[in-house]
Amino acid sequence: MKIIGGPASQLLASRTARALGTEPALCEFNSFPDGELYLRIAEETENENVTLIQSTPTDSDLVALIQLIDACEGAAKINVVIPYMGYARQDKKFKPGEPISARAVARCINADRVFTINIHEKSVLGHFPCPAEDLDAAKLLGEYIATLSLENPLLVAPDAGAQGLVKNVASDLGFACDYLQKTRLSGDTVEIKTKTVDVTGRHIVLVDDMIATGGTMAESIRMLRGQGAADVYLACVHPVLARNAAIRLFNAGVKDIIASDTLEKAESRVSMAPLIADALKGL
Ligand code: R5P
Repeated sequence: MKIIGGPASQLLASRTARALGTEPALCEFNSFPDGELYLRIAEETENENVTLIQSTPTDSDLVALIQLIDACEGAAKINVVIPYMGYARQDKKFKPGEPISARAVARCINADRVFTINIHEKSVLGHFPCPAEDLDAAKLLGEYIATLSLENPLLVAPDAGAQGLVKNVASDLGFACDYLQKTRLSGDTVEIKTKTVDVTGRHIVLVDDMIATGGTMAESIRMLRGQGAADVYLACVHPVLARNAAIRLFNAGVKDIIASDTLEKAESRVSMAPLIADALKGL
C-alpha cells in the first residue's frame, strides 16, 4: 500500500508509513503566482492501493486533499484518512439559509473508504459518498496520561458532549472521571457551571475532542482552580488552538497541554499513527 501525506499531515503520514513498515511517497507541494495550489505525486499510483492522509484545518488543505484524490486517478483503491476534518462542527443548519458545511465537504471526498478520528459529530460520516469510519484516539491519549504518573488524577469533561470521550480515556486505566456543564455565550466565550465534585488538592486532566479558541478550557481551568484543584492538565485530540488560545490557557493557569498529531503543533505529543496503521491493516 502506498501512503501519501498531504501538506497538513506530513509527520503523521510518515509515522503511519513507518508503523506499516513502508515509506511515504514523495510529493511536491507548491503554489502558482496567483496563489492557486500546485501539487504532484512523484511516484506512480496506477493500479496501486493508495492511502491519502491529510487533515483539513484550512480551506487550502481541503483543496490539497481534493487535488491528491484526483491525482490518484487510476489507483486500484483510494483510502482517505482525514485525521482532523474542518467544518465538521457545522453539521446542521443552525439558522435558515445556512449550508450544512460538513455535508458539503464530505460530498467532495471521492474515495473508496474514509477514516476520520474523533470527528465532532458522527452523523457527518453518513454524508461521505463511500463507507466512512471514525477512529477513537481515547486509548492512546489515556496511555500517554498514564505516563505522567499523576497521583489519583480526576479526568473531567468540560461539557456533557465530551463525557463519552472522557469515559473511554479513563476506562482502561481505572481513573475517576466527571463532567462539567457548559453554556456557549458566543464563538469564543462560554459559561462553565460549578459542579458538586470535590477537587480540592487533586490533579485534574480536562479532556475534550478539540481546543479551538480555548474559551471552554480556560473557563474550566479557572473554575476548577477556584475550587482548590492542584495542577490542571489539558488533553485533547485536535489542538486547533486558534488565535491566542495557548496564551489564554496559560493565563488561566494550565499546567500543560497534551494533544494528538491530527494537527501538527508543538503540543502534539501523542501520535495517532498506530491507530491509523491498525485500521489500514484491517482492510
Ligand atoms: C464543542 O462541543 C467541542 O467539543 C469543544 O468543546 C469546543 O469546540 C471547544 O471550543 P473552544 O476552544 O473555542 O471553546
